Amino acid sequence: MIELDRLAQIRIFADLPQDRLAWLSDRVSEFSIAAGDVVLREGDMATSLTILLDGELVATQSAGGEHDVERYVRPEAFGTPCVMASIPYPVTLTATRDCRLARLPEAAFRELFVSCGSFSQAVARVMSDWLTALETAALNRSRLAALGKLAAGLAHEMNNPASALTSGLAYVRRELDALEASALALGRHAVSKEMLDRLGALVARGAAETAGPVCQSERESRLADWLAARGVSQPWRVAPALAARGVAPDDLAPLADELSPAQLDAAIGWIARVLDLRCVVDDAAQGAQRIFDIVAAMKSYSFMDQGPQQEIDLHDGIDNTLMVMTHETQRGIAITRAYDRSLPRIQAYGSELNQVWTSIVENAIEAMDGQGTLAIRTRRDGDDAVVEIADNGPGIPPDALEHVFEPFYTSKYALHAHGPSLGLGLHIAYRIVVNRHGGTIGARSDANGTVFRVTLPLAGRRAEAHENGRLAGPVL
Ligand SMILES: Nc1ncnc2c1ncn2[C@@H]1O[C@H](COP(=O)(O)OP(=O)(O)OP(=O)(O)O)[C@@H](O)[C@H]1O
Ligand SMILES: [Mg+2]
Repeated sequence: MIELDRLAQIRIFADLPQDRLAWLSDRVSEFSIAAGDVVLREGDMATSLTILLDGELVATQSAGGEHDVERYVRPEAFGTPCVMASIPYPVTLTATRDCRLARLPEAAFRELFVSCGSFSQAVARVMSDWLTALETAALNRSRLAALGKLAAGLAHEMNNPASALTSGLAYVRRELDALEASALALGRHAVSKEMLDRLGALVARGAAETAGPVCQSERESRLADWLAARGVSQPWRVAPALAARGVAPDDLAPLADELSPAQLDAAIGWIARVLDLRCVVDDAAQGAQRIFDIVAAMKSYSFMDQGPQQEIDLHDGIDNTLMVMTHETQRGIAITRAYDRSLPRIQAYGSELNQVWTSIVENAIEAMDGQGTLAIRTRRDGDDAVVEIADNGPGIPPDALEHVFEPFYTSKYALHAHGPSLGLGLHIAYRIVVNRHGGTIGARSDANGTVFRVTLPLAGRRAEAHENGRLAGPVL
């Protein structure tokens, strides 16, 4: 017979009166297993409660590669939610030392559940903790997946400007030597001070001008022919840099009249190098600016520099969100904005609202399969700010529409590269809008597309807003 005080150490039995503990002890069957043995296996259906009396068990899970979930050394009962809800074990339990265990058959478990109030309360507490743990794990997984996706998109966005910057700087380093040689050549051929000033002026004018791509190759070849006719070395090499900055034969003709062929060669070489380098440096600066812009948008998207609640302009939040999602929208989504700029700033959790826009926009992009129109409208409606995000995707069927804000409701069962959809995007959005800001969120949809409408009180969170509001959202 199992010691009653041992059973009383187990959480779900802790409040049982002595006679119930004795009843229980009569119905459990004790058994032993050796280190390394599996006690119960992930995916098997539960037909009894498994009780650890002495020894050590480790729980492992196969999702995401076999990994340890938890280790148990104190008396503990396993399988309460599985027996209650008739669902398979979520983990495998293996003995890491020799163990003394016991088994309570399902029938006895259910009998105790219906006849003993303190036991049913304890089971209810276990179930509630289990659901909370499950939801927390799913939320964390969903946040991580969203973060991973965002980071991958941003990395991709930064890749082009970053590599332009790196290769531009490498080019500049190489060409600086050539520039020095060109400058020395000017001195060697005794180009006068007055002529150097004129060359400088030509470069300054060229630097301020961009000729644009139209007819560039025609201008290049005309200039290259002109330079070749005057004996300038490597005309095909210098002509592109000069033509790109609007330098034409007419600008160079007065120089050619006054300089010897060797001086002209040195002068053209120098001008072309300076203009070329300026061009490359301008491109690199543009790349750096683009990286700076992305980082700035990312910082304000996540409100990295600020406290959790701030006075925000809703439009900035929406625009920052669209900016960090450029990677997903740029392939085929046209974005139209109809913003009511007279909307006052509102007191809100800025980064959380950005998560709301992200979830809605992400769903819209997925629904349109990357091709379509995303229309964003803002306006004032009494004491509320209204944001509407519309897509012209296939729409949400009426019977699905009433479930979209429920946790784990999803129609996307196919595996994405970043993992399966959890059906949490709109549920989290609902909690942020309704419970955190006292606003409303709803959707209407037909075969022409879907509109999500978010309203937020202009005067800040309404008094009745609370964290544990109704979870399913209204349908407009
Ligand atoms: N704009 C839309 N067009 C069509 N269906 C939509 C749209 N927005 C949401 N849905 C439907 O609502 C469901 C729930 O959306 P939700 O964002 O909560 O979950 P999910 O996108 O499936 O998964 P997750 O966001 O967790 O990756 C979606 O699976 C989809 O069926
Ligand atoms: Mg989603």
